[in-house]
Amino acid sequence: MNVLIVGGGGREHAIAWKFSQSPKITQLYCAPGNAGIAKLATCVPIKATDLDAMVQFAVAKGIDLVFVAPDDPLALGMVDALLQAGIRAFGPSKAAARIEASKSFAKDLMRRYHIPTADYAVFESLEPALSYLCSCDLPIVIKADGLALGKGVIIAQTQLEAEQAVRDMLEGNAFGQAGSRVVIESFLTGPELTILAFADGKTVVPMVSSRDHKRAFDQDQGPNTGGMGTIAPGASLSEQDQQHMMDTIFQPTIDAMAAEGCPFKGVIYFGLMLTPTGPKVIEYNARFGDPEAQVVLPLLQTDLVEICEAVLDERLDQIEVRWQDERSACCVVLASGGYPGTYTTGHPITGLETVTKSLVFHAGTRQEGSQIVTAGGRVLGVTAVADSLDAAIDQAYQDVARIHFDQVHYRKDIGRT
Ligand code: AMP
Ligand code: GLY
Repeated sequence: MNVLIVGGGGREHAIAWKFSQSPKITQLYCAPGNAGIAKLATCVPIKATDLDAMVQFAVAKGIDLVFVAPDDPLALGMVDALLQAGIRAFGPSKAAARIEASKSFAKDLMRRYHIPTADYAVFESLEPALSYLCSCDLPIVIKADGLALGKGVIIAQTQLEAEQAVRDMLEGNAFGQAGSRVVIESFLTGPELTILAFADGKTVVPMVSSRDHKRAFDQDQGPNTGGMGTIAPGASLSEQDQQHMMDTIFQPTIDAMAAEGCPFKGVIYFGLMLTPTGPKVIEYNARFGDPEAQVVLPLLQTDLVEICEAVLDERLDQIEVRWQDERSACCVVLASGGYPGTYTTGHPITGLETVTKSLVFHAGTRQEGSQIVTAGGRVLGVTAVADSLDAAIDQAYQDVARIHFDQVHYRKDIGRT
């Protein structure tokens, strides 16, 4: 099979790594890819959001399966465009990807189908939003409706902060089109947990749980980022907990999407908060998380091609998805100093070849002659798999210490907070 992965970050490197183990693959392509992915796949310089060029390439190369990994091309309808051209594509349709691309769509869906989530209201104009705020308890959560790279969420501690956030989004254009509508929702408390799941429109198969560390600095301080590190499993859940989530969240979500005429096929991301009154949905994403994929995929035993085919053929209920149940994984992200704000790139990365026990997934890297250099905010993800979480964390940090680049920044407490 010829397989094309769309994207070029750490998540796509983990997907390429997993695909590369499948005996079913003859040729693996990635667009645009990065310096690490280039060791496993032929990288093609097509932007992940360039629908026309991607379809043309897939047709020209006789691609049998396209895996669309990032949110933007999914929201733009890349899967629909590929399917129209007769190419099998893994990922939700444009209509189904709204579950991530529009927070108000997701919230309205949850309300209509009684899926547990924070109470909320949606506004498109300033005055009603401001008067609603006056009736809210603090802290209060303000979210831009559209895709905002994980930065469109403000947790306001004071009325003034809340008003400012609403003004910035609705008036100030701080988030462009993504902020032309805001969701104001009540503040929930409890540990956060990510559960990714494969879904074929009807059946939903949860993966091993994981936990992201979104803040830039240790002890969950500093700004939100795309993710500074992950562990899997993310919590120890009893059979009963898992069944409860299946019955109240996972299956109802998949059923709701089908009932709305936009069945969800692909990987769905349930961002959950385990509140004192039970698990609630904080957010949905329409794809693998990054860096969640970097800890979940190394624990997956089943061939990813087999799973993708079962999803596309709507027979997920007929296969067994197996995990390394007794093992744990930890991924530590090495970022450019300054991320998620401004940072410099082009710094040579050394020590990569000295890492033998962990997997090093490249995110923002570029090949320059014989040298691999930094090329983004999140640069690398170092993933260790071991018999216990403690051992995985220790191994990941031992290997992180072998890698160097100018102004490297990473959290020292992944899996420890
Ligand atoms: P999101 O982009 O929706 O995942 O939000 C980013 C982060 O904001 C989440 O990981 C949570 O830590 C926090 N957050 C979002 N919504 C809420 C909420 N209703 N209550 C408390 N924290 C929240
Ligand atoms: N790690 C969070 C996300 O992928 O959205």
